[in-house]
Amino acid sequence: MEFLQEIQRRRTFGIISHPDAGKTTLTEKLLLYGGAIQEAGAVKSNKIKKGATSDFMEIERQRGISVATSVLAFNYQHKKINILDTPGHKDFAEDTFRTLTAVDSVIVVIDVAKGVEEQTEKLVEVCRMRKIPIIVFINKLDREGKDAFDLLDEVELKLGLKVTPLSFPIGMGYNFKGIYNLWEQNIKIFESTDKQKIAETTAYDSLEDEELEKAIGKASISELIESLELVKGVYPAFDQKEYLDGNLQPVFFGSALNNFGVQELLDCFIHIAPAPLPKSADKRLIQPNESAFSGFVFKIHANMDPNHRDRLAFVKIVSGIFKRNTPYFHVRQKKKLKFSSPNAFFAEKKEVVDESFPGDIVGLHDTGNFKIGDTLTSGEEIQYKGIPSFSPEHFRFINNADPMKAKQLFKGIDQLMDEGVAQLFTLNLNGRKVIGTVGALQFEVIQYRLLHEYGAQCSYENLNVHKACWVSCENPDHPEFIEFKRVKQKFLAVDKQGQLVFLADSAFSLQMTQQKYPAVSFFFTSEMK
Ligand code: G4P
Repeated sequence: MEFLQEIQRRRTFGIISHPDAGKTTLTEKLLLYGGAIQEAGAVKSNKIKKGATSDFMEIERQRGISVATSVLAFNYQHKKINILDTPGHKDFAEDTFRTLTAVDSVIVVIDVAKGVEEQTEKLVEVCRMRKIPIIVFINKLDREGKDAFDLLDEVELKLGLKVTPLSFPIGMGYNFKGIYNLWEQNIKIFESTDKQKIAETTAYDSLEDEELEKAIGKASISELIESLELVKGVYPAFDQKEYLDGNLQPVFFGSALNNFGVQELLDCFIHIAPAPLPKSADKRLIQPNESAFSGFVFKIHANMDPNHRDRLAFVKIVSGIFKRNTPYFHVRQKKKLKFSSPNAFFAEKKEVVDESFPGDIVGLHDTGNFKIGDTLTSGEEIQYKGIPSFSPEHFRFINNADPMKAKQLFKGIDQLMDEGVAQLFTLNLNGRKVIGTVGALQFEVIQYRLLHEYGAQCSYENLNVHKACWVSCENPDHPEFIEFKRVKQKFLAVDKQGQLVFLADSAFSLQMTQQKYPAVSFFFTSEMK
């Protein structure tokens, strides 16, 4: 197949939701439609299998949350679909934010009964800021939930989106009769059948079909006609450009558990969702169809096998063809690296591949060369933008609990920070090390992994910090900046890149400091924007 065709057939996206809205179930059902798995349940049971063989995953299994993100790829109607899985748990939100830098679009799953929840709001805000095309899937229609129009209002209000339904439910919960597909203009009747397999459902093309009336009754049809008129009157018609520009969000309804409404979503998705998009680097915009390869690391995964200490760096290919055994330029380290066994992902398996295309994710075995955000190219010195560290909110001093293992501890901390598990700050005053995280759970993950992967033991000590923010001043010799550094010496640290960080002990003191030193700039992401 031609290079350009390969690019055009790829759809790389993420599914985001508040935990329990049905992200895993929907992912599984998409794989089922893609023929990548034969029975639902495979993805979850695979997670448990991994848990049994890996210490790290044991944490995930015990807690029943997804600590790691992964890639699931399959083919559907000549399209190559790459789903980047995102952890829903809020303590791992930073992982999800980073994964969002590697997707070309997203599907947001919302529980019909719970409506828009906190985690969804945060994640959608990031997507909105980045103008990522969004499709909304309202799930669990087989349960009693909120009225469809109320939900659409809530999505617009709480998520700041402009929606247009592309499917509409007939009834809900006990009275759930089916779905009108506005995209294909037909009706499918809901039958609760085998939840694990795809069942053939009858589609009716006309609302006047007698069989349809027999199936759902006259009252439901009248109700549907009214609803559709309202939809037509209230919401804008779907416009693909507006969707791709991030200005309009189509909404689908369904029940992932019952395989209902999922195919409608998928069939529309492959038509409207974007193929791999151009991406900004520091010097220029890179187009996917450029012949030179380039890509960036958005995720580093600890090896699941305790006998192999290497890691897997997930690289999103932005341009060109990534080829096995070809030397590529590691821009930050200014050196060439060759990869003899790059992994591609297919359903829940990974396999060595010779070539990968823009939109694809390759997993590269890494012995410590990569950090989150690193760029790989055919030779050009460019750096992809947009993988910031977020201002952490939980802080603890980290101490070595086994003096014989100091070297292992520092190596472990260094590598875990490169993976993006947390951030390390060194206090200017006394050189003590502080770990900052977005969620409290990471402290346990760090302690556990240091012990199991590096044989090192650490202990924590509480530290009263409200928030860390990066600071700078246009003129480093500005008297205000010098005064700030003198007065706040106790609260200053450097991050791993040597950037100056202010550890504010309360929201009040942060605000006061900002007011007192207007010449000093305070930033809440490491990108300093
Ligand atoms: P998540 O990844 O977003 O956290 O959610 P997940 O898919 O694990 O789904 C959360 C729960 O919601 C699961 O139930 C799942 O079966 C259920 N669910 C998903 N889609 C639907 C749907 O369309 N209708 C109904 N009624 N339920 C749905 P669970 O009891 O927590 O887990 P399980 O024992 O079923 O695996």
